[in-house]
Amino acid sequence: MQKSELQADILKVLITEEEIQARLNEMGTELYDRFEGKNPLFLGVLKGCFVFMADLIRVTQLKSDLEFIALSSYQNATESSGRVKIAHDLQQDITGRDIIIVEDILDSGNTLAFLKDYLLTKGAKEITIVTLLDKPSRRTKAITADLSGFTVPDEFVVGYGLDYGQQYRNIPYIGVLKPEVYQK
Ligand code: IMP
Ligand code: MG
Repeated sequence: MQKSELQADILKVLITEEEIQARLNEMGTELYDRFEGKNPLFLGVLKGCFVFMADLIRVTQLKSDLEFIALSSYQNATESSGRVKIAHDLQQDITGRDIIIVEDILDSGNTLAFLKDYLLTKGAKEITIVTLLDKPSRRTKAITADLSGFTVPDEFVVGYGLDYGQQYRNIPYIGVLKPEVYQK
């Protein structure tokens, strides 16, 4: 890893690049077995999904297509506001489709509870939730992932697509920021 001003803000690495890649391979195999022949629609929740989704679709190698939706509940803080709004909507008809939601992290569950209901009203046939990270200790909605990469403790994490104030998404592993970063 080359020297970088981003790395200097990281207190500790929680999940390494190698661990992410190894788990992704397992997840790809699992998804392939579940969805072979079903032509699923991978639906990424922007922006956090984009690194994970790019890697996941390539290890999974399913005949499939993809779509994005942008939802926000976080106004650049580390706590959820509880309210979810659609910032960028679906650009296609999803009636009768098998949807694989691709999310960066399942935290309170607000975002995915909202999204699941929304997709059902739009006529989705079956909804499968895939999340890279799961933080079950903070759940307030009755939502579980069908497939999750890693369970993380109740700490705010960044990297591999996840941000703090729109930064740190381009760190290649999952890490925890130094406390002083939040005080800036
Ligand atoms: P939820 O609606 O509370 O489940 O939160 C979902 C969204 O909050 C995720 O898609 C992330 O964008 C963001 N989020 C929750 N926890 C973290 C974290 O530890 N780091 C970065 N983003 C987070
Ligand atoms: Mg997100």
